[in-house]
Amino acid sequence: MSDLTDRPILNVRDLNKRFGRGCVHCRKPEDLPGLSNRCPYCGSVWACIHVSFDLYEGEILGIVGESGSGKSTLVRSLYFDAPVTSGTGEIASFKEGKANIFTESAQQKRYIKNYLMGMVYQNPWLGLKMDFSSGGNIAEKLIAAGNFNVHQIRQRASKLLDHVEIPLTRMDEKPVHFSGGMQQRVQISKALANNPSILLLDEVTTGLDLSVQARVLDLIRRIQRESHTAMIVVSHDLGVIRMLSDRTIVMKQGRFVESGLTDQILEDPHHPYTQLLVQSLL
Ligand SMILES: Nc1ncnc2c1ncn2[C@@H]1O[C@H](COP(=O)(O)OP(=O)(O)OP(=O)(O)O)[C@@H](O)[C@H]1O
Ligand SMILES: [Mg+2]
Ligand SMILES: [Zn+2]
Repeated sequence: MSDLTDRPILNVRDLNKRFGRGCVHCRKPEDLPGLSNRCPYCGSVWACIHVSFDLYEGEILGIVGESGSGKSTLVRSLYFDAPVTSGTGEIASFKEGKANIFTESAQQKRYIKNYLMGMVYQNPWLGLKMDFSSGGNIAEKLIAAGNFNVHQIRQRASKLLDHVEIPLTRMDEKPVHFSGGMQQRVQISKALANNPSILLLDEVTTGLDLSVQARVLDLIRRIQRESHTAMIVVSHDLGVIRMLSDRTIVMKQGRFVESGLTDQILEDPHHPYTQLLVQSLL
């Protein structure tokens, strides 16, 4: 393998995120009394603690963990929805991988979001403008990346919607009237609008009927095959992660407690929490 393929397209080192002002008992995650990541004195939460990982080209990296373990906080931090408390992140295709994306200007962060990353939110209301048409949602993303030709935008939007199997007759409808599965597919097409090299998917199938889930999972696998987009897939459901990801990270209370090849983790889970997750699949 060449150096190029060995090089991660995203690397994150020692990312920490605290919600709340903190107090003398929780200035650093290590200061917290007890095992919980919530400070019993001031209520602050360390939602991500010393998180480090690499994402490689074309791979699907799974992040699994119970509710509140910090999965959404992690991907939303990567998408700059909220500032991290500390940590570095480097994207190979941004400033030659030499800049910490977390300390870049708002303008540079916008560039990264418009050109290099796509995000599918756990809650479609965060990812879609429900009072815009589906086509309009995609157009917004294309315009943000400097496309102003109305005809081209419409063409690209129809192609993207077709790709996620949204009938073109519904392109001018507002996603608020769509089913949950369709809303997620519109979110996916919007996230893919500018051919991002990194796609973040947060609980993309949670709350969907099993048959609808299967279709969305198929779609994600197809996108990965066809476009070779690297993805971070977050789910509390190890079954979903098993179906999608090559490598898996297990999160608990803000920390990574186990990581490795998905098959290995399933066959030989080391951490008691992972063992519990694997047992629940059987
Ligand atoms: N905006 C916020 N303000 C304060 N605390 C927050 C905020 N967002 C998340 N938290 C806290 O951070 C921790 C991690 O939450 P997060 O939503 O990242 O977990 P999650 O793993 O995505 O859970 P779920 O599976 O329920 O989606 C939780 O304790 C949560 O209460
Ligand atoms: Mg979440
Ligand atoms: Zn505190």
